[in-house]
Amino acid sequence: MTTEQKQLISATVPVLKENGILLTKHFYNRMFTHNPELKNMFNMGNQQSGKQQTALAMAVLAYAENIANPGVLMPVVDRIGHKHVSLDIRPEHYQIVGRHLIASIKEVLGEAAMPEIVDAWTAAYVQLAALMSGHEANLYEQKTSLDNGWTGWRPFKIDKKVEESTEITSFYLYPSDGGKVMPHIPGQYISLRVFFPEMELYQARQYSISSAPSNEYYRISVKKEKGTQIDTDGKISNYLHNFIQEGNKVDLTAPAGTFTLSEELSAPVVLISGGVGLTPMISMLENLVEKNYNYPVTWLHGCRNRSVHAFKEKIDQITQTADQVTQHVFYDVSTHEDRQQGIIEGFLDIHKIASLPQFPGTRYYVCGPSAFIQKQYTDLIALGIDKEAILFEEFGPQLLQLN
Ligand SMILES: Cc1cc2nc3c(=O)[nH]c(=O)nc-3n(C[C@H](O)[C@H](O)[C@H](O)COP(=O)(O)OP(=O)(O)OC[C@H]3O[C@@H](n4cnc5c(N)ncnc54)[C@H](O)[C@@H]3O)c2cc1C
Ligand code: HEM
Repeated sequence: MTTEQKQLISATVPVLKENGILLTKHFYNRMFTHNPELKNMFNMGNQQSGKQQTALAMAVLAYAENIANPGVLMPVVDRIGHKHVSLDIRPEHYQIVGRHLIASIKEVLGEAAMPEIVDAWTAAYVQLAALMSGHEANLYEQKTSLDNGWTGWRPFKIDKKVEESTEITSFYLYPSDGGKVMPHIPGQYISLRVFFPEMELYQARQYSISSAPSNEYYRISVKKEKGTQIDTDGKISNYLHNFIQEGNKVDLTAPAGTFTLSEELSAPVVLISGGVGLTPMISMLENLVEKNYNYPVTWLHGCRNRSVHAFKEKIDQITQTADQVTQHVFYDVSTHEDRQQGIIEGFLDIHKIASLPQFPGTRYYVCGPSAFIQKQYTDLIALGIDKEAILFEEFGPQLLQLN
């Protein structure tokens, strides 16, 4: 890119701030009209809610703001790259997206889209696409180089379905080809896709692996989503709960994701989860216990009440047998019996935990609904904890801009 082109991109930042979502909405409509086959890749629910358009607009804006030094975006490129690779997105898709993005800029900006602005954005897109698809090529290569690694969609058999609470059910997934699974890093997710004949589409969703790395299977634990309107119950989670039976098949991509328990970690770990956000934490906890981790591990969990408290017996058993693990559980609404068993009433509040580890190096992992993550993050920062020590995962396109 020329210096003039970079200046032109920087000059369009205010326009993007104002029209970014309009542009990305127009872009997706255009792309799905001309290339409807791409609907198989996208979560059409996120399209309806506008979350994906917002996530893309935020990414394009961040890129425009950092056009002079796109290298600073590498952590974001890495996180998006893991999601892309998990959905089997390849360089040829970047060409289609580029064509529709540039055409959308022209169509949305109208006369304001002067040829030099369009040229600058074309050059900027080519540069960004090369950065992203280059990074993704490395991620694909890493997967094929790992033991039992693979890329693309691989059929898996549901071997066992286990109810963990009134709304969360676990699924034990074994490769249909009889092979082994690639060991995941605790905290990572897989994408799972199902074909819906009535939509004539595949739809994919991400699910954190809730088991410790094993050579034989992945366990995912899925919350049955309930919509507030008729016919708005979550598509895939209800399909898994209501229709999928033991012995049925689904397609999975290999584990991906950057919300992970570092192998080199040698410090206390605090796992903070809200509701179904406990799934990546269970994988981390089981892994830490299996390897006799030498530092304190604190399990903090909040949920609505006893009936939706998943994996209770499992965590109780771990805290009773593993000396280094302590737990504090909060219910929005508790009974006298719950409180006798140590349950704290109200939303999860770290200020109520007198023994919260705060030594330098302690790692804090947070997962749950956006408002939950936001609150825990703010409270941890208020305790003086470094933002680099806090890792979080949103169960949807990342929209929070915390660190
Ligand atoms: C990295 C990552 C890890 C994840 N891990 C897990 C996990 O371990 N366990 C888990 O359960 N989930 C997890 N998720 C979330 C999961 O991917 C799905 O988003 C979730 O299961 C909902 O998918 P769905 O198809 O059932 O719902 P969707 O059909 O995608 O709908 C989502 C929500 O929108 C509502 N809705 C849909 N259409 C409408 C409409 N027209 N009007 C109003 N409301 C509507 C639905 O009722 C539902 O509540 C994870 C997500 C990510 C990104
Ligand atoms: C420069 C180009 C691109 C940018 C800046 C970009 C940006 C993003 C961002 C920010 C997300 C959300 C990530 C998250 O937080 O989970 C995302 C997800 C996604 N991207 Fe891209 N992307 C690009 C190219 C592509 C291409 C070429 C494809 C394939 C056609 C693609 C398909 C997807 C899909 C399917 C998702 C998940 C959407 C969902 O779950 O709703 N992207 N991308």
